Formats: sequence, C-alpha cells, structure tokens
Amino acid sequence: PNHVCLYQRRDISSWLARWFPKTPAKSVVALKTPIKVDLVAGKTYRWCVCGRSKKQPFCDGSHFFQHTGLSPLKFKAQKTGTVALCTCKATQRPPYCDGTHRSEQVQKAEVGSPL
Ligand code: FES
Repeated sequence: PNHVCLYQRRDISSWLARWFPKTPAKSVVALKTPIKVDLVAGKTYRWCVCGRSKKQPFCDGSHFFQHTGLSPLKFKAQKTGTVALCTCKATQRPPYCDGTHRSEQVQKAEVGSPL
C-alpha cells in the first residue's frame, strides 16, 4: 500500500542526508608539519582533505565514515621522488605543502580542530 512507499522514501532521504550532508564539514588540522612521501610516477594517490584520516597525508575513508561531506583529492604523481605533502590542510597548493603550516593561524590552532 501507498503509506509503506512514502515511509520507505523518507527513510532513504534521511539516510542520504546523514551520509552525504549538503553542507560539508570544515577540514581540521591533522598535523602542523608536512609529511615527506615517496611517490611513483604515474601512480594515483588520494590526499586527505578532511584532516580526519589516521593515515596522513593520505585518505583512510574517515571523510565518509564521519559524515563530513568532503572528498579526498585524487592526484597522479608526475615523477618519481620525494615530496612534502600538507597535513595542516591549509595549503594553497594542495596536496603539496606551501609553508602555510608556519603561519600563526595554523600554529595557534588545535590539532583535530578546524582553523
Ligand atoms: S603542512 Fe600544510 S602547508 Fe605545510
């Protein structure tokens, strides 16, 4: 009957709103210094945008499981070598560290909190 359908639809939309919020959460400061990683040319990586990953600087799915509405940044390494990836999440050149972590704003922020 009709009322069952309506009930199910409401159920699905609240599920969607919970797991895919329309207003994304703010990124949080994961760390205040970059992490050097060895990248391989042509390989694709997922840089953590939300700051909640326990596998910094890479994504561990926390953006999804913590309902942030954010997504990781997928990027392909142009060459093989070591690069410093941002962990404060405030860089202007994601995923790379641009030195923003040295700013007073980042240094005064609490790890695990937004700027
Ligand atoms: S770690 Fe974010 S700018 Fe350096």
